[in-house]
Amino acid sequence: MLIAHISDTHITNEVAFKAYAFDLIVNEINTRPFDLVIHTGDVTNNGLREEYEHASYLLKKIEKPLIVAPGNHDARNVGYELFERYIGPLFGVYEFKDGVIIWVDSTIPDLSDGRIGGYKFRWLKEKLEEYSNKKIKIAVAHHHLVPLPDTGRERNVLYNAGDVLDLLLSHDVTLYMCGHKHVPNVYRVEDLVVANAGCTSCRKTRKGDVNSYNIVKISEKGVKVVIRRVTGEEKGKEHVPIRPKIFVPRGRRIFRIVHLSESNVSDRKYFRKNVIENVVKAINEKYKPDLVIHCGDVVEKGIERFFDMAIDYYESIKSEKLVIPGHNDYTYLGPELFREYFGEPEIIELNDFVFIPLISAQYETPIGVVGRIGQKMLANLLEEYSEKFRVVVLHHNLVPIPRAKEIGYLEDAGNVLKIITDANTELVLTGHGGNSHAVKVESTPLVNAGSVSWELHRNPFGNSFNIVDIYEDMIAVFEIQATWGSRKLLGIWKIKGEVPW
Ligand SMILES: [Fe+2]
Ligand SMILES: [Fe+2]
Repeated sequence: MLIAHISDTHITNEVAFKAYAFDLIVNEINTRPFDLVIHTGDVTNNGLREEYEHASYLLKKIEKPLIVAPGNHDARNVGYELFERYIGPLFGVYEFKDGVIIWVDSTIPDLSDGRIGGYKFRWLKEKLEEYSNKKIKIAVAHHHLVPLPDTGRERNVLYNAGDVLDLLLSHDVTLYMCGHKHVPNVYRVEDLVVANAGCTSCRKTRKGDVNSYNIVKISEKGVKVVIRRVTGEEKGKEHVPIRPKIFVPRGRRIFRIVHLSESNVSDRKYFRKNVIENVVKAINEKYKPDLVIHCGDVVEKGIERFFDMAIDYYESIKSEKLVIPGHNDYTYLGPELFREYFGEPEIIELNDFVFIPLISAQYETPIGVVGRIGQKMLANLLEEYSEKFRVVVLHHNLVPIPRAKEIGYLEDAGNVLKIITDANTELVLTGHGGNSHAVKVESTPLVNAGSVSWELHRNPFGNSFNIVDIYEDMIAVFEIQATWGSRKLLGIWKIKGEVPW
């Protein structure tokens, strides 16, 4: 099966639309052996009737079966009604021999943000269950699922990107196709390929890029996505699923990390003092880790009284510690107090491991940033320590987590994720959003800790912390219920390639 993946045509009589790029790409598609064309939205620029008339005429030039999902621009000016009249259904299912394509409307009228919520989410879930026997499952929507590099500020994401990602992963979806950010990109998230198309015929490309489309080849082996630009330049990646997944740890355990977050120590009712006392005891007496990492929000508000209480808990932990600030720590006098009580987080080298703290918290806002200087520093450090097992530690999650409303909490998540995955970083630990989550992007596992002792969390398992056990050939992450001590497996991955030790 060979699919041409186009997106963001932005058809209009304004300057935004590049007719020659559209014609060039459509001609190419018509002369190549594609079975199908998928358009991931923003067909028009403003959802106007004249644009839809124009678009329905231009899309007829495509001489292949065509599936079109609506984009935020199509939904402008109540354009979603016109979409159905001029283009086609907003949701649908297309079956082929070994597979199924399910496309869904992720738009919110008059907003650039996306959402596959409520009945839409249920519909998608039902369809994934109905077609669960299909070998190849492709989900299609306009908005991106995973932060993209080179798109400026991370925004206009799917509000429930974490839930959607979780749904797709739990239903063994092969491929998620989207557009929206006008930047072509391919990521492998566990065994799911997330393919963003660039923009086919909009003038608004980013970082001086040119128009492009993606060529998607689905075979017995796996999924290959090639980004093809109008200049003829091609860049491709093939993804072969890793199955069957059998995990038998070999050799001894090399390192154990206790990974926790969002203690939110305070005198508020929401702070569960007994729970954190229990956790400190369990760390000291039962888990005895090589390192304890607290990923931010040590205190609920940046005031001295709360830091005083917090330092007592953390000083009673016997293991070595790395504590980094979160956005709650950076309220009021927090930035100064954090340094006074916990010190400036520093790089820790232990045997073959290196722990690189990144400060993403900013004063008085939940929005984080690493920034361009921070990004450069990170890239250099990952290079400098390439012989070691590198663990990057920051507060803000890089991949959306379930049950949290995603608004792009880390401004430059796309660039940071790209730097981390390009360097084949061994592990990333984060702690924002009040829910535990673990997922591997490319070859890097990214683990988020839920809240260890704050009642306002989003984790059905309750307050918890993670145990990260590193073996010679694999990483296993267990989540420990903070009150009961019961554990569940959060993530397990084989470590590929040369092991540094
Ligand atoms: Fe667009
Ligand atoms: Fe868009």
